[in-house]
Amino acid sequence: MKPDTHATWQALARAAEASERLHLREMFAADVQRFASLSVSWNDWLLDYSKQRVTTATMALLHGLWHTADVPGWIARMRAGEAINHSEGRAALHIALRRPAFAGPILHAGHDVMPAVLAELDKMQRFVAQIHGRHWRGATGEPISDIVNIGIGGSDLGPRMATQALAAFRHPELTVHYVANLDGADLATVLAGLQPRTTLFIIASKTFTTQETMQNAASARHWLVQALGEAAVARHFVAVSTNLAEVARFGIDPANAFAFWDWVGGRYSLWSAIGLPLALAVGFDNFRQLLAGAHAMDEHFFSAPPEENLPGLLALLEIWNTNFLGADNRALLPYSQSLGLLPRYLQQLEMESNGKQVDRQGLPLHCATAPILWGEAGTNGQHAFYQLIHQGGRLVPCEFIVCRQPDFALSGHHEKLLANCFAQSEALMRGRTLAETTAELVASGMTAAQVALLAPYRSFPGNQPSTTLLLPRLDPFTLGALVALYEHKVFVESVIWNINPFDQWGVEYGKQLASRLLPVIVGTAQGEQLDSSTAGLVAACRSG
Ligand code: F6P
Repeated sequence: MKPDTHATWQALARAAEASERLHLREMFAADVQRFASLSVSWNDWLLDYSKQRVTTATMALLHGLWHTADVPGWIARMRAGEAINHSEGRAALHIALRRPAFAGPILHAGHDVMPAVLAELDKMQRFVAQIHGRHWRGATGEPISDIVNIGIGGSDLGPRMATQALAAFRHPELTVHYVANLDGADLATVLAGLQPRTTLFIIASKTFTTQETMQNAASARHWLVQALGEAAVARHFVAVSTNLAEVARFGIDPANAFAFWDWVGGRYSLWSAIGLPLALAVGFDNFRQLLAGAHAMDEHFFSAPPEENLPGLLALLEIWNTNFLGADNRALLPYSQSLGLLPRYLQQLEMESNGKQVDRQGLPLHCATAPILWGEAGTNGQHAFYQLIHQGGRLVPCEFIVCRQPDFALSGHHEKLLANCFAQSEALMRGRTLAETTAELVASGMTAAQVALLAPYRSFPGNQPSTTLLLPRLDPFTLGALVALYEHKVFVESVIWNINPFDQWGVEYGKQLASRLLPVIVGTAQGEQLDSSTAGLVAACRSG
């Protein structure tokens, strides 16, 4: 069903019109219970959305969308292993990857996937134990000190983000590096500090055909073979892929290949063997805790009503901001250095999933889908782009994430971090009127002329909506639940927008054109069909 034809959608459009007359500071002044009615807890988490431009009546309408779009029905389809990724004819069963053994089967095409999932986890665990126990030796008999994960997109961003997020849990004697970019500067700078004798590469690629990863893998192989000879490859390369035939062709021993399945989307694959570098970085017990946290969020998502459903609430608020208030972006602002890569990770998860223009019936959509997601760890962002959020005149819904407890307990830091985080959402909500600013400047002793000059610059419109997610502490369990929260948020949005969040055809066209251009750049083809700009750029490179 087209989202904008729901009666609820029309009612929300009217509510949005009415909300234009309201300012968040007036909403808070009018209702001292606002925080109590517009915040929700889950275990020891707190989601405060009282600084969003909603009323309880708006929320009731948004909860209605959950039902009219049949979110519960789509959850059931996902759990039943139906091919909800219809344009690729695939199921989306990442929930199986973090399901504990006792929780029962998950069926795909009539077969329980759980035995294979659990067996692959056990294989990963044995491998991690070998590396950590220094039983796995390189070709010269030395233990491994450095792991280099070579992958891109979903085969990079998840474990990279989580390795940084769980820095407090890192194994002391093993360093995990990540290489993704096709630009040789990425691999070259990582290799510059490493010794082939003690380095192990993980080639991570669902398809094992991705140009960036294959080029980096070939260059890494060359670096190793030059130093240690061809026979060393087996002791220094392992792979993670769904395409085990290609892995074998690359020369990696099938015993050292970790499998996953076509029902796992790349950007939903952190929980599979794609998480191997993370498991090596933080240990397998912590990796299992990550899975347990994600599973706990799955259970919450499957059972909680929309009024209390964290992924559901985040999705409904984003739909309100995007489709009814007209926001075209969302700033993700983790007040956590360790979550510094979360905005990048969520860019892929959210924008590759829901950046779509055609609905599940192949018809053009008449409503906006995923907003542009951007952001940076606080407080760094405060000294960079917050000026625009405060006074740039754009609608920028903000999402603050902060932990009650620090993951690195240095005296004096965490209280200041909390104060900055809460102060920002307060300032964005409240703003400061010209009259307030004038009174403050007069009280500070300025002359009337100075006050008149400066007051407009020092006033803030406020009314900038935000959500704050307060977490207990950044540990593997919490991180797992946090990532699963966003996966399910994306899913709820896709159901309401009536789009497929599990394909990514938009990425393919650029890959096709790059393959067509490569022979022109290396000079084995002429490129007569090129437009004048592309032809001019190629010619300029070839002449230089
Ligand atoms: O960017 C497109 C994409 O297909 C992503 O969805 C995927 O995560 C990434 O490329 C890497 O693909 P692979 O794991 O097959 O190398």
